[in-house]
Amino acid sequence: MTRAFGVRSDSATWPLPTIAFLGGTGRMGVHLCAAWASAGYEVTMCSRAKEKAQAIVDSLLSGAGYQEKASSGSVGEICVPPCPAEGWKLKAGTNTDAAAADMIVLGTRFDAAWPLLEAIAPQIRGQGKLILDITNPHLAWTMGGSSGKKGAALLPKDGPQSSIEVHKAKLDDPTARWAAAYKTVYWSLILPTGPKNPARPGVEVFGDEAALPAVCELVAMHGWQPVVRGGCDVAADFEGGTMSVSRFLGNMKREMFQGEKLSVGW
Ligand SMILES: NC(=O)c1ccc[n+]([C@@H]2O[C@H](COP(=O)([O-])OP(=O)(O)OC[C@H]3O[C@@H](n4cnc5c(N)ncnc54)[C@H](OP(=O)(O)O)[C@@H]3O)[C@@H](O)[C@H]2O)c1
Repeated sequence: MTRAFGVRSDSATWPLPTIAFLGGTGRMGVHLCAAWASAGYEVTMCSRAKEKAQAIVDSLLSGAGYQEKASSGSVGEICVPPCPAEGWKLKAGTNTDAAAADMIVLGTRFDAAWPLLEAIAPQIRGQGKLILDITNPHLAWTMGGSSGKKGAALLPKDGPQSSIEVHKAKLDDPTARWAAAYKTVYWSLILPTGPKNPARPGVEVFGDEAALPAVCELVAMHGWQPVVRGGCDVAADFEGGTMSVSRFLGNMKREMFQGEKLSVGW
């Protein structure tokens, strides 16, 4: 059962974390920032150029939604429909402003994420941040990424084979709690009123045990259904762009016998 939009679970007694989205002006950033703000979170849409984020925030806060045609090399447009935004706590910021948030979202393409996190690492280390990694190192092609090849992995072969493990090792902060989610959810399905296809609301979530309650709450608060897969060690099996026969059959089996309805865009 999905929960009513913006309603907290009975067991969630902690305050909602403030959120900063690194690379927040992209497809996932705009759609998720709008959805989370609509659900009651305080969200900062971060960008290399604050004025770029400010124009998007202004449009969203005016109730006009935000639409942007796809640039060449992209796979699709940003398309948040008009939606009343009274009371939304949404603002624009730079990527360095993200250091102040409780939850920091890595939301650029994979190869741009670490430099942004590294730049704020001195401020966030030791602060017990919650870090949500939505990057997909196997999907350079969808981002106009550096290799541009369909399915090209941006991970060194001799290291961990998931973005969350790579980023977690690089930050090397024992106080940080890491989780991943939304990896296979198409941006255009994420609306400020809930999933565009409410029949398939499942979002796979995995990460540190201490991070999971807040991230599951985040997913549920905007009308989706968290589906927990395990710790960071399972990450390599659940990155976007790594669809295999066994993963496909596993999804089918869980759908038939456990009633899962995953939103799987790829
Ligand atoms: N698209 C999807 O449906 C989807 C679904 C699940 C997960 N993901 C993952 O989510 C991440 C973002 O995907 P997206 O489709 O939202 O990407 P996107 O539309 O290309 O947006 C990413 C944002 O990153 C920033 N950026 C671009 N190049 C950068 C650089 N060199 N350094 C710093 N910032 C840079 C840009 O913001 P500024 O110009 O404002 O700085 C841009 O708006 C990817 O890792 C992807 O695999 C995507």
